[in-house]
Amino acid sequence: MPDNQVGDFAARNASITPFRVIELLERARALEAQGRDVIHLEVGEPDFPTAAPIVAAAHRALEAGATRYTQALGIPALREAISGYYERQVGIRVPPSRVIVTSGASGGLLLLMALLIGPDDELLLTDPGYPCNEVFVWLTNGTPVRIPLRPERQFLLNAADVDAHWSERTRGLLLASPANPTGAMLASDSLRSLADLVRQRQGFLILDEIYQGLVYETERPCRSGLEVAEDLYVLNSFSKYFGMTGWRLGWMVVPEAAVEPLARLAQNLFISPPSLSQHAALAAFSEPALEIHELRRQAFERRRDVLVNGLESLGFGIPLRPAGAFYVYTDISRTGLDAMTFCTRLLEEHAVAVTPGDDFGMINPERWVRFAFTADEARIKESIERIRGALKGWGLA
Ligand SMILES: Cc1ncc(COP(=O)(O)O)c(C=O)c1O
Repeated sequence: MPDNQVGDFAARNASITPFRVIELLERARALEAQGRDVIHLEVGEPDFPTAAPIVAAAHRALEAGATRYTQALGIPALREAISGYYERQVGIRVPPSRVIVTSGASGGLLLLMALLIGPDDELLLTDPGYPCNEVFVWLTNGTPVRIPLRPERQFLLNAADVDAHWSERTRGLLLASPANPTGAMLASDSLRSLADLVRQRQGFLILDEIYQGLVYETERPCRSGLEVAEDLYVLNSFSKYFGMTGWRLGWMVVPEAAVEPLARLAQNLFISPPSLSQHAALAAFSEPALEIHELRRQAFERRRDVLVNGLESLGFGIPLRPAGAFYVYTDISRTGLDAMTFCTRLLEEHAVAVTPGDDFGMINPERWVRFAFTADEARIKESIERIRGALKGWGLA
């Protein structure tokens, strides 16, 4: 396209920045093409392949010709299976009528923003947080407002923070638990007070539970915000716990009154979620698949410990041993380098790829780096040794 047409693009495009991690990933690929052995701790997806029972179900569905559009809100069998999952794994009743199958949590986010945010409405988000959230808000001409999360409070949001940022234009709050990039997980009573506050303010609460299931050693884990409040919009996905990132499938649980308008939006924006992925996902709740997912969760927990202990032994600050997800948000300020320089030098000089805080927030991002434990234990140990070598080489050991 000739350059002179760029001025014709909508103004919001100017605010959408590419992820810094993509630059690093491209550089990592170039290094690999030269024969370097890069350890990837930058990727936000499980390194495990989709579990065999799910893949087998997809094969069967393909043979049976499940290649057409489906119901806009998802095939009834999958909506029922998700409802059954809440009943068995979480211990709560969520009627299938309130479950909406989406094209990833990303599809769910788009539907919710279209439903809930109008021009000039404000939506409260966390900083740091999942970077795409604010782009969805811009698409509906709303304004994202960032609430800073404090490392000294383990990056946990509380009702007073939300109250302090609530304005006349605020419509609601979007937060994730467990969270990307911090692994922070809200306890039931904190979630309850957040839900109470938002209700008092006559707003809505969107709770992103895409890392549900990937939780570690919490004594009484809050398995879903739906345990403490019914009037939430809950986002979830088959991407992370169920290891199905490329299948582009997720779901939402929404208040009954929102189902019909969301159905209209879903019909218009997506027609239907992907058919094959839905049939495959039915097998994600089978006993054999759930056993595989549990073993993988345990592997993530061991990796977390290796990574956190290793980073701490190198003198990095880790405000929170992640309670969920697969990320360690690490304070690298002891190096005197900003995060982007740290990540670039670590990759170029020692072939370890990690993600700078710049991708997750605007408040002191230069101090933070996200390490993902999406590589096996041996590779994580090797990465710690490489970082030890880096610090020595930089005169910081
Ligand atoms: C917090 C959070 N929400 C939503 C998403 C989108 O996930 P998907 O569209 O694959 O379900 C991601 C992906 O990394 C995420 O980390």
